[in-house]
Amino acid sequence: MLSVEHVDLSYNGVRVVESVSFRVGPGEIVALIGGNGNGKSTILKGVSGILHPVSGKVTFEGRDITRLEAHRIVGLGISHVPEGRRLFPFLSVYKNLLLGAYLVADKKEVEERMEYVYSIFPILKERAAQKAKTLSGGEQQMVAIGRGLMSKPKLLMLDEPSWGIAPILVDRIFEVIGEIRKNGVTVLLVEQDVEAALDICDRAYVVQTGRIVLEGPGKELLDSEVVRKAFLGL
Ligand SMILES: Nc1ncnc2c1ncn2[C@@H]1O[C@H](COP(=O)(O)OP(=O)(O)OP(=O)(O)O)[C@@H](O)[C@H]1O
Ligand SMILES: [Mg+2]
Repeated sequence: MLSVEHVDLSYNGVRVVESVSFRVGPGEIVALIGGNGNGKSTILKGVSGILHPVSGKVTFEGRDITRLEAHRIVGLGISHVPEGRRLFPFLSVYKNLLLGAYLVADKKEVEERMEYVYSIFPILKERAAQKAKTLSGGEQQMVAIGRGLMSKPKLLMLDEPSWGIAPILVDRIFEVIGEIRKNGVTVLLVEQDVEAALDICDRAYVVQTGRIVLEGPGKELLDSEVVRKAFLGL
């Protein structure tokens, strides 16, 4: 479904991602794991068109999207839920969700989508009129994921969904990621909670200093000595 081939990414001429290649198949949950500053978020930006690769190729459903503008990539079915949520703090939950569907003209379709998001996160329906900034961290993450779902993506990219969330809500967020996949959405997940990510994913790639250094099925990596030593402190 998504294929990233030998992609290089840089900020102001400084290369931070080097020759990264990976694939995501339809219906999979694929995780990118690795420590701070290794280039995970940058890779997601390179897929969603926030950054354009210096070299290499990104293909989505057989179509070259390497140089496509970000809004057109959303239109093709890729949704990027960024690190740190990036909500509009003074807008209501409802309006924040609505912004995720800005490319959808059909009002009925938008309302159906909203009901789908509320069915996954019932608390957001109760909080619909509340300003986003008054929500708990976990609830804000639900709004961010909900907003990402409002564009009806085929591929949902989640950057650190567990960031700054109470452990009990982290479990709920990971449950929801499983449900979203069951509903037919493919998921590309970036996570620092390596154990949780490897547990839920089908396959994972380990990103280190802008390169992919290891890949394999989640369960296999969970047992691998390198991953256990580097990330799980075992
Ligand atoms: N907007 C930017 N301008 C310049 N350099 C940046 C920018 N964003 C990130 N970088 C640099 O690129 C490198 C990779 O950053 P990136 O955010 O992709 O890492 P990450 O793996 O997502 O880290 P974290 O786990 O902390 O989120 C880092 O050295 C970072 O300082
Ligand atoms: Mg990051």
